[in-house]
Amino acid sequence: MFSTKQNVLKILEENQGATLSGASISKSLSVSRGAVWKAIESLRKEGHQIHATTNRGYCLSNNSDLLSADGILYHMQTPMVTRDRIHVFDSIDSTNHLAKKMALAGAPHGTVVLAEEQTQGRGRLGRSFYSPKGSGLYMSLLLRPQGTSSTAILTTTAAAVAVCRALASTLGIEAKIKWVNDIYLGGRKVCGILTEGITNFETGTIESLVLGIGINVFQSNEGFPDEIRDTAGTLKGGIEQNQPPLQPLPQNPAQHLSRNRLAAAVILETMSLCANLQPGSFLPEYKARSLVLDKEIKVFQGPEPYTAKAIGIDDQGGLIVQKPDGTIAVLNTGEITIRPLDLQQQKG
Ligand code: BTN
Repeated sequence: MFSTKQNVLKILEENQGATLSGASISKSLSVSRGAVWKAIESLRKEGHQIHATTNRGYCLSNNSDLLSADGILYHMQTPMVTRDRIHVFDSIDSTNHLAKKMALAGAPHGTVVLAEEQTQGRGRLGRSFYSPKGSGLYMSLLLRPQGTSSTAILTTTAAAVAVCRALASTLGIEAKIKWVNDIYLGGRKVCGILTEGITNFETGTIESLVLGIGINVFQSNEGFPDEIRDTAGTLKGGIEQNQPPLQPLPQNPAQHLSRNRLAAAVILETMSLCANLQPGSFLPEYKARSLVLDKEIKVFQGPEPYTAKAIGIDDQGGLIVQKPDGTIAVLNTGEITIRPLDLQQQKG
């Protein structure tokens, strides 16, 4: 059951860029014009750019793409979380940092933290994650799974598949996965996932997992910093330059890159997959989307990097590699690179 405010936002988003009269909105929602006006005022206060023209009506600006709990909820066909569990911030140091603090304070399974900007966004292996305002989807999902540390690796792998499914269902694009959980579009990294766990040392079980998902949606005004300029990409850039949609897109083009819609799909896909974490339910898809399987890769683990061939993914999400001397190893952590040529091949 959605509030008038949520329903008004939904109608405006569905008709983004077009002007709708107050009378038509009130008629389609069966509420008074006063109630529509009140909802519009409240949405404006939240920061949605809604223009009002006397005698014509209301128009949600094409530039308006504000993250909000309401916006996320009405895009979620099956409500997997309640409104009080979605926390949206204008600016924050790191959504993972806050989600971990909330986990320790007892926040429930399904708590979501999102921000328009992160001032200290964190990546894997101690790196930072570039998180400029309004350009990406920076979110952390708190899960309370029943399991041990192998659950964490498998959850991370499942999250990569969930993000790919969300990109396919909302934007009609088919992304690839570079082990363990970097998402690529047109040869460029558009999403990274950082999973952090809180373990109960007495029982050896995972008390909570924080899945931090960072998606570069739009290019920021400054562009990417030098160190990632050659490798990072955005969904918008990927769609425009490399990947014609494989499925019919929603009718209104302005909806294509609604971050609320994307967030709703990512939450839905991730929570559904993780509710019943069976390798069989997503590993075949993970493998089919893999950028590394059957490729020569460079492995950075231990003192010396080495080259190897990626030959499989095991049931825990570990990468099985064959070294030049024929020996087999399974990687559960660490970093790999693939030759730029192999990344280029994905562009076609
Ligand atoms: C990586 O590519 O190394 C992982 C990047 C993970 C970034 C996300 S953005 C939301 C969440 N909060 C953070 O500080 N990091 C994760």
